[in-house]
Amino acid sequence: MTGRIIGTGSYVPERIVTNEDLAKLVETSDEWIVTRTGIHERRIAVEEGTSAMASRAAERALENAGIKAEELDIILMATSSPDHCFPNGACEVQAAIGAVNAVAYDISAACSGFEFALSTVQAFIRAGIYKTALIIGADCLSKLTDWSDRGTCVLFGDGAGAAVIRAEKTGVIHSVMGSDGVKGPVLSCVARSEGNFLNERKPELGYIYMDGQEVFKFAVKKVPECIRQVLEESKTDIEEVKYFVLHQANYRICEAVAKRLKQPLDKVPMNIGSYGNTSGATVPILLDELNRQGRLQRGDKLVLAGFGGGLTWGAALVEW
Ligand code: UT7
Repeated sequence: MTGRIIGTGSYVPERIVTNEDLAKLVETSDEWIVTRTGIHERRIAVEEGTSAMASRAAERALENAGIKAEELDIILMATSSPDHCFPNGACEVQAAIGAVNAVAYDISAACSGFEFALSTVQAFIRAGIYKTALIIGADCLSKLTDWSDRGTCVLFGDGAGAAVIRAEKTGVIHSVMGSDGVKGPVLSCVARSEGNFLNERKPELGYIYMDGQEVFKFAVKKVPECIRQVLEESKTDIEEVKYFVLHQANYRICEAVAKRLKQPLDKVPMNIGSYGNTSGATVPILLDELNRQGRLQRGDKLVLAGFGGGLTWGAALVEW
């Protein structure tokens, strides 16, 4: 038995923030943002938090899968911007959708979180522990963004994506995950860990910090590497892959990955122009779009791949 994706769903907030809007906040321009990142606009949560977005995406995924929330055995929510320290976001989703029979907890692996959640439920399913899972990637990075830092504030957006996974004969063929904690400081947000009752909190540490060029170099090396690894270990020819559903951080990273893999860019779908980098949500939102546009047929092979804070990275080869 393996886990098969039987339904997807996504949710993005209504409020659109354009590059022109940001040019009123910081010294930037639509031209700079579009040419360096491919982003035209992003969605920013005004009323809803991470769990509310995740719950909407989850409901849509359940509806798409045609199953009831009570059938879920486990909910894993990948997020690095939960609304609270506890209860965890997955438990809040559980309550919102009525998944009374599920165990629910969060996974923190930043932008690789959805791939980590997929690998984790896959292991549970293969071990025969659970049969039906809901995995969610949801982030509200607008809460952690320094809106006066032009180096980061133009990059991120808010959103959530979800997938229902069920034990079947085909589905996730293989997955790999990796971490390099030594390089962690190049992409960090250390708000909660700093300060205790003896040491004062430092408010300036509450924001995302990123060494963009280091993260860029890491991504264009590690993403092709882990994709090759997942294909080699599953003895799959790269030409069999229909789409590479990559973390949407920068269109130039997607282009560089396609080039390194010697694959045409039309096998690398992108929606970064509309949503920016929604962290753990980019891959499931993109997957849901492909699914709802009817671009995925039963038997298609897809590679899902993410990278991000930790540093972390992961890839999965999936048969649709
Ligand atoms: O989910 C994973 C997390 N993040 C990523 O994957 C991001 C990976 N990195 C990147 O995507 C790119 O490094 C960025 C888009 C963040 C930056 O692009 P870059 O081509 O690496 O630009 P840069 O950092 O080398 O900056 C070039 C110039 C600098 O000015 P000087 O020093 O050349 O005068 C920056 O100060 O662009 C300036 N700059 C900006 N100018 C206008 C930086 N941000 C902006 C901005 N608007 N928003």
